[in-house]
Amino acid sequence: MDYVLITGATSGIGKEFARYYASAAKNLIIVGRNRDRLDDLKMELERKFPIEVVIITLDLASQDAFASLARFINESTIDVSLVINNAGIATSGPAEQVPSKRDYEMVMVNIYSLMEITKLFLDYFYQRNKGAILNVASTGAYAPGPFTASYFASKSFVLSYTQALNFEAKANGVYVGVLCPGTTATNLFQASNQKCPRWAMDPAKVARIGARQINREKPVQICGWTNQLLTMLPKRIKVSGIARIKKNGSTEI
Ligand SMILES: NC(=O)c1ccc[n+]([C@@H]2O[C@H](COP(=O)([O-])OP(=O)(O)OC[C@H]3O[C@@H](n4cnc5c(N)ncnc54)[C@H](OP(=O)(O)O)[C@@H]3O)[C@@H](O)[C@H]2O)c1
Repeated sequence: MDYVLITGATSGIGKEFARYYASAAKNLIIVGRNRDRLDDLKMELERKFPIEVVIITLDLASQDAFASLARFINESTIDVSLVINNAGIATSGPAEQVPSKRDYEMVMVNIYSLMEITKLFLDYFYQRNKGAILNVASTGAYAPGPFTASYFASKSFVLSYTQALNFEAKANGVYVGVLCPGTTATNLFQASNQKCPRWAMDPAKVARIGARQINREKPVQICGWTNQLLTMLPKRIKVSGIARIKKNGSTEI
């Protein structure tokens, strides 16, 4: 039986991806740090839908995370057909004031673990000549982000890396795509000392857009027309606009 693996499934966009695929009768492997929240989600989904939910508790900021995930995948008889690299954390404030520990965790979760999980499953899918990977970046990937500099830079990495892999993987019958949500109403803001604006997009809508992107095998998807238009603005306008919005760690305009 096929499984969909989702990182960062305990809240926000990842949780909505889990709900979406559970409602489509897909078995799930949900990955996150918080065992209680993963247990709650497993219970919610298995009660509502005829599926199995496997939990992997992992801190993706830890050096050992990738090796234990690789061991699980290589030793298990479970067939994974889709991987959604969704886990992510943000940084905010003037760059020199962001604690180094926070920047380190952000690089580990947003970049390193995403890259290692992508490579693990490219190999896995290439052996089967099928499979799909969706990496979650952000509209922040399209411009430098004053007062959230390392976060936006991490998302530029995800966008560039995934676009390159889309090209490489196609020849092996594997789809790799990148989803770029704009501001979305999730815990991401609170967790990085920012306020979530009222106009933020519903995370369930972001998950539906991502699922449609995967079905259509679209290399890049920016969520919503407004965000698509905003990413097309000249870079200097985007940079000064972002600086105004993000100064003092606030997203309220
Ligand atoms: N919200 C937005 O405006 C927005 C916009 C563009 C892109 N995105 C991207 O969307 C993705 C999902 O974020 P979200 O907005 O849904 O935020 P969220 O509600 O805070 O969810 C983040 C998820 O990542 C997990 N995570 C964080 N650090 C982890 C770690 N060290 N190990 C394992 N899991 C970890 C969290 O799990 P825990 O329960 O362990 O904390 C949580 O499940 C992220 O990649 C984010 O950058 C968000």
